[in-house]
Amino acid sequence: MGVTMETHLHALLFLLSVILLTVSCVRGQQYASAVGDPGMRRDGLIVAFEAWNFCNEVGKEAPGMGSPRAADCFDLSSSTLKHKVTEDDNKLGVGKIFPGLPPGAISNADLYAANKELYLGSLCEVDDKPYPWQFWMVMLKNGNYDTKSGLCPQNGKKVPPFSSGGFPCFGTGCMNQPILYHEQTKLIDGGTLRGSFNGTYDLGAEIGSGLGGISFYEVVWEKKVGAGSWVFSHKLKTSKKYPWLMLYLRADATRGFSGGCHYETRGMLKILPESPNFKVKVTLDVKQGGGPKSQFYLIDIGSCWKNNGDPCDGDVLTDVTRYSEMIINPATPAWCGPNSQGNCPPYHITPNNKKIYRNDTANFPYGAYHYYCAPGNAKFLEKPVSTCDPYSNPQAQEIVQLLPHPIWAQYGYPTKQGDGWIGDARTWELDVGGLSSRLYFYQDPGTPPARRIWTSIDMGTEIFVSDNEEVAEWDLSNFDVILTYGNMMIELVTFPILLLLLASTAGDTKHPSSLNVEIEDAGHHKLKSWANCITGLHQQFNNVQEVHDALHRHSIACGFKCTFKHNDYTRVNTNCRAEDCPWKIRVSKLSTASFFQIKKLNETLA
Ligand SMILES: *[C@@H]1O[C@H](CO)[C@@H](O)[C@H](O)[C@H]1NC(C)=O
Ligand SMILES: *[C@@H]1O[C@H](CO)[C@@H](O)[C@H](O)[C@H]1NC(C)=O
Ligand SMILES: *[C@@H]1O[C@H](CO)[C@@H](O)[C@H](O)[C@H]1NC(C)=O
Repeated sequence: MGVTMETHLHALLFLLSVILLTVSCVRGQQYASAVGDPGMRRDGLIVAFEAWNFCNEVGKEAPGMGSPRAADCFDLSSSTLKHKVTEDDNKLGVGKIFPGLPPGAISNADLYAANKELYLGSLCEVDDKPYPWQFWMVMLKNGNYDTKSGLCPQNGKKVPPFSSGGFPCFGTGCMNQPILYHEQTKLIDGGTLRGSFNGTYDLGAEIGSGLGGISFYEVVWEKKVGAGSWVFSHKLKTSKKYPWLMLYLRADATRGFSGGCHYETRGMLKILPESPNFKVKVTLDVKQGGGPKSQFYLIDIGSCWKNNGDPCDGDVLTDVTRYSEMIINPATPAWCGPNSQGNCPPYHITPNNKKIYRNDTANFPYGAYHYYCAPGNAKFLEKPVSTCDPYSNPQAQEIVQLLPHPIWAQYGYPTKQGDGWIGDARTWELDVGGLSSRLYFYQDPGTPPARRIWTSIDMGTEIFVSDNEEVAEWDLSNFDVILTYGNMMIELVTFPILLLLLASTAGDTKHPSSLNVEIEDAGHHKLKSWANCITGLHQQFNNVQEVHDALHRHSIACGFKCTFKHNDYTRVNTNCRAEDCPWKIRVSKLSTASFFQIKKLNETLA
């Protein structure tokens, strides 16, 4: 940066009294894992339960069962379990007050459940750096959809009831929540901990007298005290009335929205992994597949961003949930093919970043894709195209479903049909970050690519409308989300930084390259690991909200904890903390400046 520019900057600073000072310090802490309980090895377990109807809401509680959110959380000390959630907490349902419940939510089953999850999270929360975390989440979803109910919006838009078929439903009430039985975790035979959730959708059925003809789900968790991982044993059974059921174990964001949800959620991901810099490790032992329609996801990742690349903000009309799933059931065919290109993504990107268009029939790996569907609210889709089911999420969705194929070998994914399936239990170390950075996801032409930050990572099955009563059974353990940089582990922000932000006049934007150089110069201090998080560096911010968002993302990625104290059109006041070091920012917008811009970055001691 030249002297003139420097002087100019300082003059600006002084004369316009726009001082945005950020001082931060973080000690050299390592965050190799993004989850609170890396590898599921902690004796004190934290697990929760949530059940959703077809459009990821509650709709109506099952009679006598309370709101479909529950938790089993405890600390273990000297062979005694100290439970943090009571069965009364778990039975809370509409009409019953609990701490933090907003008045408007008390009789609304959807809002009530969302708030109950936050409440259970507050009881279970484990204090940690950079954020506290709450629980693994057992997620159950009922695929029945009564189109005459008017319950599910279409791509986020409220629509009146309609009578088109195509969705399973036996009539009014088919979207019901399940019955939940909970066996609180206990120490059995001295050295083993065990607990469970189970139940059925068939209200009134007795699961004790055999499972013939009825639906059933069960998750049992078990661990030897002081050794190894928790093992989560899952079972899911469909019935004639409930032919489409889903059961997953999820690591969800500890704050913000998780995949497929437009409410604040609680979870296990204390740091949100971003493509390409993370891997997922998990041991999966499939015992029973659940029939040919069981779309067993070795891994399912979920996030949300808008078609213009912006992060989601809860506006269901423009937010788009994005999923990618690796389906390992060998009975699942590729719907994508040379003669059905509308079921393929427009192109495939190879590990060395070569684009192969789907019309390149000699080279496109059709067998690697089960199905691609585009968001229903996308405006510039390449034809032919399939759009995703518009009703099953609160907003539009996009899904990229993969199948085992040699093309995925480099990412450690299954390469052939049958890999990881029944009789082939394995511990996978999947380069989910690398693969997901090279998947096609729709964006409006000319918009800056979205940051692929994943708010949910889960495993389990979706038994998709089966005529038979199907049973799937599997064990899952050692689950971890490992943060990487390239092939190396990273340490997030291990040094103090000083960030200088100031409102600038339009004239200053002529010199962005000199600023870039300055930023790159700091590279020897592991800048790379946090260059990602300060994408706002030479960015302009049109308003306070944008500054706010950038800082928020920065704080998540860098492991700072920020509370935004004061917000109006002209100021942002934040207090950010990393370890014991305060990190303060004051941003003031000037009447003479049209936007904010981060102008300088340097490191200093607090
Ligand atoms: C379901 O869980 C309950 C305990 O909560 C247990 O008594 C029962 O045996 C379980 N049912 C089945 C069918 O596994
Ligand atoms: C294949 O698709 C690409 C992108 O849509 C297009 O540019 C190209 O012309 C197509 N090639 C053929 C041979 O149709
Ligand atoms: C950072 O500040 C120090 C002292 O204030 C200065 O010597 C150094 O050149 C600055 N580094 C960059 C990259 O601007």
